[in-house]
Amino acid sequence: MVARVVPVGAFDLVVFGATGDLARRKLIPALYHRLHDGQMPDGARVIGAARSELDADGFRRMADAALGEFVGASALEPEARARFLATLDYVQLDAVSGEGLEALGAALGPAEPGRPRAFYLSVAPRFFGPIAEQIHAHGLAGPDCRIVIEKPLGHDLATARALNACFTGHFDERQIYRIDHYLGKETVQNLMALRFANALFEPLWNARHVDHVQITVAESVGVDGRGPYYDGVGAMRDMVQNHLLQLLCLIAMEPPARFEPDAVRDEKLKVLRALAPVAEADVVRGQYMGSNGSAAYTAEAEAADSLTESFVALRAGVDNWRWAGVPFYLRTGKRLRARVSEIAVAFREVPHLIFPARGGRAQQNVLAIRLQPDEGIRLSMTIKDPGPGGMRLAPAELDMTFADRLAASALRMPDAYERLVMDVIRGDQTLFMRGDEVEAAWAWIDPIIAGWEER
Ligand code: BG6
Repeated sequence: MVARVVPVGAFDLVVFGATGDLARRKLIPALYHRLHDGQMPDGARVIGAARSELDADGFRRMADAALGEFVGASALEPEARARFLATLDYVQLDAVSGEGLEALGAALGPAEPGRPRAFYLSVAPRFFGPIAEQIHAHGLAGPDCRIVIEKPLGHDLATARALNACFTGHFDERQIYRIDHYLGKETVQNLMALRFANALFEPLWNARHVDHVQITVAESVGVDGRGPYYDGVGAMRDMVQNHLLQLLCLIAMEPPARFEPDAVRDEKLKVLRALAPVAEADVVRGQYMGSNGSAAYTAEAEAADSLTESFVALRAGVDNWRWAGVPFYLRTGKRLRARVSEIAVAFREVPHLIFPARGGRAQQNVLAIRLQPDEGIRLSMTIKDPGPGGMRLAPAELDMTFADRLAASALRMPDAYERLVMDVIRGDQTLFMRGDEVEAAWAWIDPIIAGWEER
């Protein structure tokens, strides 16, 4: 049995924006879980950095409250909690003016070879550039340094290019970790295992056998408190440009030679570059209205006349030998009836049905990969309806829910950020987007949005 916890060496992680929502909801709980599971080594340090007037104890109290709120009671053990809080430190700073950066340098001490130093920029994108410059100007980087950023990585191709240029001006591409948290989800990684560790599907994985692919990320939540951000973005930029396209890449890419960062990312890039332009008639967008006691988008986002889309559905195509002519239907939206993320690969029908028509039709084989909730895989098949009555065909499903396997081994499904933060420390970029991928995705999205704006 392969060990479940791959140890990492001691590290320093600086979280800019450490008092913000992402840090409280995701990063602090993720780090706690890694410590609790024995992966955060002695000597690891997490330094919160933000403008809030706090000292280390105040930050620890904030982090402790975040653990109470966002970590399940069963995983909260007093000893691990205390050990985790002891790894935390805090530096008050203003990354734009540079005030406090010297104190951060002092807290970090000189860079030690072999001890990774990661800067996680959990801040609004307008601070990305200034922070990168300040880190550089204060000599905080060093050879084992990594910088972590997360979307929005630009607003269009031009701004994405400017952002890439800003980072690559200060860091090597191998030091830049662009998070798409979907890539950290267990089930999304499982797409690669399913495709490339099984002999069964790959021979069928092409236009000869696949009729269409559907990628759905439906959310039941609305924009909640994120109206001001979301209204300037919309579903296309918020979800399609990154999460849905990354899923499409994992479904459509050629098998990389190895499971290594650039081998995987090269293949994803080829898919993005092969995406066909989307015709006007092949994309619809919508905005949710109030229903069942919840407010309309315009009220929630506090944007009365907004035309921002909270829903988008489109038909994409991948213009290459493997996929020519196969539609990839992408759809995502907020305040939909249920929260469900699923990829369905629908295979072509049998070329000729040998059974009598009165026995019913053979249903299309569909391989549905459920990303959330109820993670698992379902394969729709046609079987003979058991029992007497002649040759009657009936639909049947092979259904595998991962929760069953996890429950059997008393494991929990780790959150995407647990995996991704540890990959940063390990220096593994496989699950992170390279700059050219981000640009290729924008290059495909831009004309769709430009078309909307024109009209
Ligand atoms: C984020 C989007 O990237 O992903 C949000 O900005 C969206 O609008 C979220 O709600 C969905 O993530 P998950 O992990 O809940 O599917």
